[in-house]
Amino acid sequence: MNHPTITDALEDPAGTGESGRKKIEWARQHMPIMTSIDEDFGSERPLEGETIAMAMHVEAKTAVLTEVLAEAGADVAITGCNPLSTHDDVSAALDRHDAITSYAKHGVDDEEYYAAIEATLDHEPTVTVDDGGDLVMAIHEEHPELIDSILGGCEETTTGVHRLRAMDDDGELHYPMFAVNDTPMKRLFDNVHGTGEASLSNIAMTTNLSFAGKTVVVAGYGYCGKGVAKKAKGQNAHVVVTEVEPRRALEAHMEGYEVRPMAEAAEEGDIFVTTTGNRDVIVEEHFERMTDGAVLANAGHFNVEIDLDSLDDLAVARSEVRDGIEAFEMPDGRRLNVLAEGRLVNLASPVAMGHPIEVMDQSFGIQAVCVREMVEHAESYGPGVHGVPDELDREVAEIKLDAEGIGIDALSDEQAEYMNSWQHGT
Ligand code: NAI
Repeated sequence: MNHPTITDALEDPAGTGESGRKKIEWARQHMPIMTSIDEDFGSERPLEGETIAMAMHVEAKTAVLTEVLAEAGADVAITGCNPLSTHDDVSAALDRHDAITSYAKHGVDDEEYYAAIEATLDHEPTVTVDDGGDLVMAIHEEHPELIDSILGGCEETTTGVHRLRAMDDDGELHYPMFAVNDTPMKRLFDNVHGTGEASLSNIAMTTNLSFAGKTVVVAGYGYCGKGVAKKAKGQNAHVVVTEVEPRRALEAHMEGYEVRPMAEAAEEGDIFVTTTGNRDVIVEEHFERMTDGAVLANAGHFNVEIDLDSLDDLAVARSEVRDGIEAFEMPDGRRLNVLAEGRLVNLASPVAMGHPIEVMDQSFGIQAVCVREMVEHAESYGPGVHGVPDELDREVAEIKLDAEGIGIDALSDEQAEYMNSWQHGT
């Protein structure tokens, strides 16, 4: 639907979304999983009659997912899940689709951000697709009257799944949600390779600095941290990892990384990347120890990992020194450079395009089949967080292998029997 009030506000004065359309088509060409699912969904129309609300990073790959859901028969209302990650031209292109309304806009303030979430809920969704959990929270806190008609939903990221599990533990999650993040096809690729590649490439493009010979401090050695550390090492950086979980710290140690508390790493680092999903990971005591010119970037979901309020309190001056880089000048003259306002650097920096297309093809392939599963078998899932059925994950992996022309072996009957038996010994 074309809503002049929305498209007029976008940075596409003619409201044609032409450049956004090109970006979407380029992404589509490199998304064999979504293309295959689109063919099936287009003929089977499994989402006919459903209304889907989405809060995601509105850029080209997400647009492909949105269109695939719409072409499967759903009406879709979409908005952003981060104030800085929307590509306005892509949002405009989406908004021109007959079955899609996009409320996503780049650079919104808090009030506009939540107003857009509200606007998607005015469509009275039967399915929700979240990246970070803001739709589910808004429905439970502000619009519980919608819950009865919602079949279920899907959550894309670690932080969103954490929030849902916390709600579920408190008995406060009142409809079924798939933890899409937790599937192998998502987490082993998107969180590891996607975050690793996209965060580093965005830091490099935003700063125009090299990683070679630098010390890169990676906070958190979970899925995202592993990817960032590995790719930074691959670019000849010296990598220091900080952790709070002893086994993850040991894993990092055995991979050959230096493991230190942040208080020590702060003195060593040239570039800092937070990937914890936690708050206050880099705080005042760390800013006080950092060297002049240190670069600070966050790859975790929310902008709470670097304590920007205390950095602001410490600073005698702050200025934008390059597009997407704000320098905070300390009383002793050191400058600490924060990228993308401490928001997801791979999605919110001025040059950001998010993860590579191939990676999001996998993540969104899982999203698409999970939405279909929720619509077709809603009665099988009660309120709460649900793991994605393994056969759906395998289905998407098989499509990808097929598209890549990669063959694998199959278990013989004897092998399958052997693997499932407890009676075989020496
Ligand atoms: P994870 O749970 O696998 O890893 C987080 C790690 O951080 C854990 O090992 C934990 O022990 C550690 N940690 C927690 N507090 C810490 C602290 N104070 N200091 C040092 N380490 C600490 O989670 P995952 O999947 O790696 O996700 C991390 C964050 O990245 C989440 O917010 C997630 O939503 C987000 N994410 C971002 C993406 C992007 O595009 N940038 C893509 C996927 C996830």
